[in-house]
Amino acid sequence: MSPFQLTRTLPADATDAALRADVLSGLTGRPKTLPPKWFYDARGSELFEEITRLPEYYPTRAEREILQERAEEIAAASGARTVIELGSGSSEKTRHLLDALPELHTYVPVDVSESALSGAAEALLAERPELSVHALVADFTGGLALPGSPGPRLVVFLGGTIGNLLPRERTTFLRSVRSLLSPGDALLLGTDLVKEEATLVAAYDDAAHVTAAFNKNVLNVVNRELGADFPLDDFDHVAVWNREERWMEMRLRARRALNVKIRELDLVVPFESGEELRTEVSAKFRQEDVREELAAAGLRLAQWWTDSADRFALSLATAV
Ligand code: AVJ
Repeated sequence: MSPFQLTRTLPADATDAALRADVLSGLTGRPKTLPPKWFYDARGSELFEEITRLPEYYPTRAEREILQERAEEIAAASGARTVIELGSGSSEKTRHLLDALPELHTYVPVDVSESALSGAAEALLAERPELSVHALVADFTGGLALPGSPGPRLVVFLGGTIGNLLPRERTTFLRSVRSLLSPGDALLLGTDLVKEEATLVAAYDDAAHVTAAFNKNVLNVVNRELGADFPLDDFDHVAVWNREERWMEMRLRARRALNVKIRELDLVVPFESGEELRTEVSAKFRQEDVREELAAAGLRLAQWWTDSADRFALSLATAV
C-alpha cells in the first residue's frame, strides 16, 4: 500500500451550496454576519500566513513556543500511534510533536484545502518515509469518518481556531471530537487566552493593515463566487473586544448607505451608513472556561501548558 492516501469527503458542489446558504442567512439576518471559514480562498490563506508573521499577532508564535518546549511531554502523555489533525493547513507547527513520537504509525491531516494537504504530506514523508499518511479533504465541523489505524489516537486542533466557533457550535464540535475517542485516546487543543484589551485589539488591527485586507477578502470571495458587487473601498475594517462574551470581533462597516446585489442569489442587500457586518468572532479563554467546555462534552482536562508570557494555552484532554 502506498504510504500516502487522500480521501475526499466533500462533494465537488458542497462548498458552493454551503456558501450560498451562509451568505443568504447571514446577510438577511440582523445583525448581518458571515462565517469566518469563507476568508480562506488562495488569497485569504496567503494573507493569514502573513498575519502569523506580524509583530502584533502573537498567537502563532506563542503556540509554536509551547509545542517546541513541550513536544516530549505531550508525546509521552499521549503515547499516540495515530495523530489526527483538524484544520492541519501546512502542518508546520505539528512537526515538533510528530518528531517527538517515535511510535507514530499513521498521520491523518484533515483540511478543506487539498493543495495544503498534499504539500504537507510530501514534506512529512520525505523525512519519515515509514509513516502512513491518510489525508482527508473534509470540513472538520461535520462528522468525520476516520480511516482504521492503531491506537492510542491523538486528535490535534491547534491555532485557537475553536475560538472562531460560537459557544453552541463549540459544544457540538467538542462532542463530535469526543465521539472519535476510545479509552486511552486524547485531544490536544490550542486556545488563545484572555488578556489586556490593547494587546488583543492590536493583534486584530495591525499597523500594516494586513488583517484589514484579510477581513475585506471575504467580500472578494462573495463577489467572485456569487456574482456580487460589494465595493471593497466602501467598507472599513473594525476590530473590537467584546468583554461580556470574551471574544474579539471583526466587522466590516459600511462608510455610506449602499445596496449590494448578489446575482446568483437574486438578492439585494441594503446597508445603512455605518452598518456593520460581523465576519469573525475569536473567543479567548481562561483555564476554567476550557475545563468547563471540555467537561460539557465528556472530556477531562488532564494537562495544561502555556507559553512563557501566558498568552496562549495547549490543553490535553482525555475521554471521561
Ligand atoms: C484562525 C483562529 C488562527 O482567530 O486569531 C487572524 C484567524 N483572524 N486574524 C484567529 C484570524 C484575524 C485566527 N485563527
